[in-house]
Amino acid sequence: MADTINVGLVGYKFMGKAHSNGYRQVAHFFPDVKLRPVLHTLCGRDAEAVRAAADQFGWAEVETDWRRLVANPAIGLVDISTPGDSHAPIAIAAAANGKHIFCEKPLANTLEEARQMIAAAQSAGVVGMVNFNYRRVPAVQLAKRLIEDGRLGTIYHWRAVYLQDWIMDPNFPLVWRLQKDQAGSGTLGDLGAHIVDLARMLVGEITTITGLTETFIKQRPVLEGTTGGLGAAGGQQMGEVTVDDAALFLARFASGAVGTFEVTRFAKGRTNFNSFEINGSKGSLRFNLERMNELEVLLEDEQTDVAGFRTVLVSNGSVHPYWNAWWPAGHIIGWEHTFTHTIYDLLNGVAEGVSPAATFEDGLRCQAVLDAVERSAGSKQWVEPEY
Ligand SMILES: NC(=O)c1ccc[n+]([C@@H]2O[C@H](COP(=O)([O-])OP(=O)(O)OC[C@H]3O[C@@H](n4cnc5c(N)ncnc54)[C@H](O)[C@@H]3O)[C@@H](O)[C@H]2O)c1
Repeated sequence: MADTINVGLVGYKFMGKAHSNGYRQVAHFFPDVKLRPVLHTLCGRDAEAVRAAADQFGWAEVETDWRRLVANPAIGLVDISTPGDSHAPIAIAAAANGKHIFCEKPLANTLEEARQMIAAAQSAGVVGMVNFNYRRVPAVQLAKRLIEDGRLGTIYHWRAVYLQDWIMDPNFPLVWRLQKDQAGSGTLGDLGAHIVDLARMLVGEITTITGLTETFIKQRPVLEGTTGGLGAAGGQQMGEVTVDDAALFLARFASGAVGTFEVTRFAKGRTNFNSFEINGSKGSLRFNLERMNELEVLLEDEQTDVAGFRTVLVSNGSVHPYWNAWWPAGHIIGWEHTFTHTIYDLLNGVAEGVSPAATFEDGLRCQAVLDAVERSAGSKQWVEPEY
């Protein structure tokens, strides 16, 4: 039986729930995991709510201040599943206390914070990983292998969109994701970070960028119990939206490929549409998260008189990564499995003392691209990411 590591998780809502499930599933499905996680302490600011979440998700202890959590000598791994403004302070304090760190994306709200997090993790000698979970969809891993094996030839085009529609109602309130001081940016850091990370993993580093951002609805109702009101509209306190609702950008890659990226929360009917297409000299492929067990491929080396894109069901344990842990071929998996895959690699990395990708350095490079998009949108110029 593998050794165990006590985990302290900060944040118990969307990602807290998804990560908790990953920690609970990992040793059940991946018995070879080199460290078995113990769901030791769940942290949130509301004592009653965090206790209820801990009971639901299976955590033993609760904590209401992350500063106490990161100082707890029993905890070996700190998981940061909070909004972006708290990533850097929690990670830096966790590293100072010698804890390994698993941090939600985007790594930080600013490039400077990302650099400080890397420095803190490096000087403490701890493992740091960013949760870019779409890296570990088996179909995305197959895309990576086809590219690495040269099956697509020279890559010419990267074309990615990540589209949602959940804030189109003007009465949707001013939640933390719409406030720059908490979220860092809007769609750019939330959705753009994912497709930038996938582009970096599959096509390589981005060298120059030109982009635009737009905020379609500039004021929204303030949530009860929060500050920042601008005055009343029909009795309702309004506040300013300080992030982008949509971002579009063009990029050049170091490899010579060119790319387009589009992210929005205003694509009516698109709830979580995360898709990319890659065109190379010898083939093309397309991935769509809504059909995440599939990869559409067209490979010149297997063209026949019925040539065309075909859809591969990526569920064969003997050739597709992570599949052996789950079910027989064709018994498909879902979005939550990507968290278990990521946590599996994280725990093996901690056991070996090696930070698995996406490392904090990957997180910084992604941040540099997001930062460049904002600078380009402001200056209306082509700009270079400041890696
Ligand atoms: N990898 C993905 O697919 C994915 C998906 C959604 C969100 N995220 C990322 O996860 C992070 C959290 O997003 P979410 O959707 O879970 O948000 P959420 O609003 O659902 O949950 C945030 C949690 O953080 C807690 N929190 C906030 N400030 C805190 C503090 N100072 N101390 C303790 N707890 C605090 C809140 O109480 C809440 O439990 C963000 O960085 C976001 O970008 C990643």
